Amino acid sequence: MPDSKVPNVAIKRLPVYLRVLEDLNKADVSVVSSVEMARRTGFSSEQIRKDLAYFGAFGTRGVGYSTDVLIERLRRILGLNRQVPAVLVGAGNLGRALARYNLERHADVRIVVIFDNDPLKIGTRVRDLDVKPVSDLEREVVRRKVRMGIIAVPAAAAQEMATRLVKSGVRALLNFAPLNLRVDPEIYVQNIDLSIELQSLAYYTSQVPGDRDFDDR
Ligand code: NAI
Repeated sequence: MPDSKVPNVAIKRLPVYLRVLEDLNKADVSVVSSVEMARRTGFSSEQIRKDLAYFGAFGTRGVGYSTDVLIERLRRILGLNRQVPAVLVGAGNLGRALARYNLERHADVRIVVIFDNDPLKIGTRVRDLDVKPVSDLEREVVRRKVRMGIIAVPAAAAQEMATRLVKSGVRALLNFAPLNLRVDPEIYVQNIDLSIELQSLAYYTSQVPGDRDFDDR
């Protein structure tokens, strides 16, 4: 069970540590200090030590962390000591791109079934996966014991999909639709919105002196 004392922001940093550690491991580095981890991740060494301390004592003072041990522990903490199955709802432009990327590159969390309600998309394939009718959602989620759902349908359909996924046993949602999903507090929702990210980045580009001459649409 996830530990509610560990802040979500710390959980989100763990995969970053894991990626760095796996790179080090591939380069035959067997021990790494929190200072070196800080240099490679951009987080402070204090932050890294604090995050890891939530889960117990991993390192040896003055020596550092064994990359093998820390990889194994982080994978276990994240639940990645086995492949995590996920379902994707929405086989449109975004959904297909996400599924292709996931199936080609990502072994830890694997999309195992894709749903859509468009008869023209049902039965088509993304790599080796068939797009299934959304009417099969409950049965497939329960049968495959899937706990993670990815929502890539239009906003108007997203809440219904979230509700159905959660009722079938999904505990964590990655939501790409531009709306705030209403789900029980114990369900973890991670929203991804490229438009919001770009709009907030625009703030930094608007601070360049001299560029103002072109604005005022
Ligand atoms: P799209 O129109 O290409 O794909 C949507 C898919 O959802 C279609 O295949 C459609 O048949 C399916 N669908 C619609 N209602 C459904 C239902 N009730 N049950 C099952 N399937 C259903 O749209 P696109 O571009 O792929 O975008 C999908 C979603 O992702 C939209 O909400 C869009 O706003 C959002 N989006 C978010 C981005 C982000 O950065 N967060 C970036 C791009 C899109």
